[in-house]
Amino acid sequence: MAKLIINEEKKRGRIAPEIYGQFSEHLGRGIYEGLYVKEDSGIPNVSGMRTDAVEALKELEVPVLRWPGGCFADEYHWKDGIGDKKKRKRMINTNWGGVVEDNSFGTHEFMELCRQLGCKAYINGNLGSGTVQEMAEWIEYLTFNGVSPMADLRKENGHEEPWNVDFFGVGNENWGCGGNMTPEHYANEYRRYQTFVKDYDENRQPIRKVCCGPNVDDYVWTEGVMKTCFVNTEEKFHGYMDLLSLHYYVHPEGWERKGSATEFDDEVWYKTMYKALYMEELIQRHSAIMDQYDPEKRVGLAVDEWGTWFTCEPGTNPGFLYQQNTVRDALVAGVTMNIFNRHCDRVKMACIAQTVNVLQAMLLTEGGQMIKTPTYHVFHMYRHHQGAELLSSELTGVKEIGIGEWKVPQITESVSEKDGIITITLNNLSASDSKNEELDVQFAGNRTYEAVEANVVTHKDMHAYNTFEEPENVKEEPFNGYQITGNRIKITLPPCSVVEIRVK
Ligand code: AHR
Repeated sequence: MAKLIINEEKKRGRIAPEIYGQFSEHLGRGIYEGLYVKEDSGIPNVSGMRTDAVEALKELEVPVLRWPGGCFADEYHWKDGIGDKKKRKRMINTNWGGVVEDNSFGTHEFMELCRQLGCKAYINGNLGSGTVQEMAEWIEYLTFNGVSPMADLRKENGHEEPWNVDFFGVGNENWGCGGNMTPEHYANEYRRYQTFVKDYDENRQPIRKVCCGPNVDDYVWTEGVMKTCFVNTEEKFHGYMDLLSLHYYVHPEGWERKGSATEFDDEVWYKTMYKALYMEELIQRHSAIMDQYDPEKRVGLAVDEWGTWFTCEPGTNPGFLYQQNTVRDALVAGVTMNIFNRHCDRVKMACIAQTVNVLQAMLLTEGGQMIKTPTYHVFHMYRHHQGAELLSSELTGVKEIGIGEWKVPQITESVSEKDGIITITLNNLSASDSKNEELDVQFAGNRTYEAVEANVVTHKDMHAYNTFEEPENVKEEPFNGYQITGNRIKITLPPCSVVEIRVK
């Protein structure tokens, strides 16, 4: 039988809450319709933000929201999205579906959305097609509290007080849609642009700067930007970079074909799990390169785009990246977030792509209707890890399962403690036709534990998903498959399940 040994005495570091972040781009129905419906909409809203979506996301305790892109970021000119909405520029969103972007959601709207969600703001600047001056002025507009052209403009546009910008990305995917640069070229541009991302108020937490990191396994990129952009002296440290991004998507059938979101056989199920687990290797290898320059791990890895990317739903605009979300997505989320937790010494932020109606979303909407996806429910269970201390935990005796070359461990886990409560999150990666799996959990501490709560996301069919007609087909449900005796818990994990057990 598989065994999990947990040692509360051995704390492995704090899990940054921002690992549970979200990403929303001007893409398809992500922002427009999904989050923002405009003030005069028949859909209930507060200042244009749809109430149902905001309320649902608040339950996830979203720590940080990244915006406006993605590829959109390096074509976005922020001044187009401020001032009188009737006069804002209308333009084509060249990256995503060639639709008209009316700029009605801009800087003020994004900061209002963050306010409503109670989350930190992560703004991604335009290095690819924007100027240094434009980026510098955006920071001034957002954060300067004195007399200046940009601060005055913000006030004229109705916002007297400056905002807090917690994170600022200096370009996005500059190896691709953000300018097709070489690492050397980008690294030098990064050094120049970030100089003008200034902290105007010394009493506030400095803006944390995110340098564009690699695509998947591009270790040459990581090496190139670390070499040029990391400066390890006390005075200069903050000036260059606080985080390095990493983007990785799970496409079960490869980038070209991607594969259906809802129709897959057992082999593709295991292939998807295998590809989700690849995140482990990516973090280890990029982190090892970072270690050569930054052994103290002062620069965090920000996996600010991750998740499943399937072929879009039949009949929808291919540029909108709208996909369904099954129990398989729940497992990808569970597996990935366990990996992030276990690497909390290096991974300081992660933003799943993308919050509503795009890729591996939390919520799907259709007009005034909204449903929560299986991924939403996993985020809800895992929220207890935010800001908690990672505990030492070791799995032994786990079976290797899978088909052909797609072999995976049957169980993955992570364990944390906050306010005296221990949260254990477990994934059983077996396809739905498998048997239950027993797990014996043992605490190193010799005391008696009692349950606080236990929940599960699963379904007898791994293809199951929620629809507007059947919104609760897959949901978080109380979990009873465990028994606590003293310092041991015997758990019966259903196949294709994500389980959370909290004890004290
Ligand atoms: O999330 C969709 C797209 O994927 C983003 O715009 C881009 O950064 C990435 O390639």
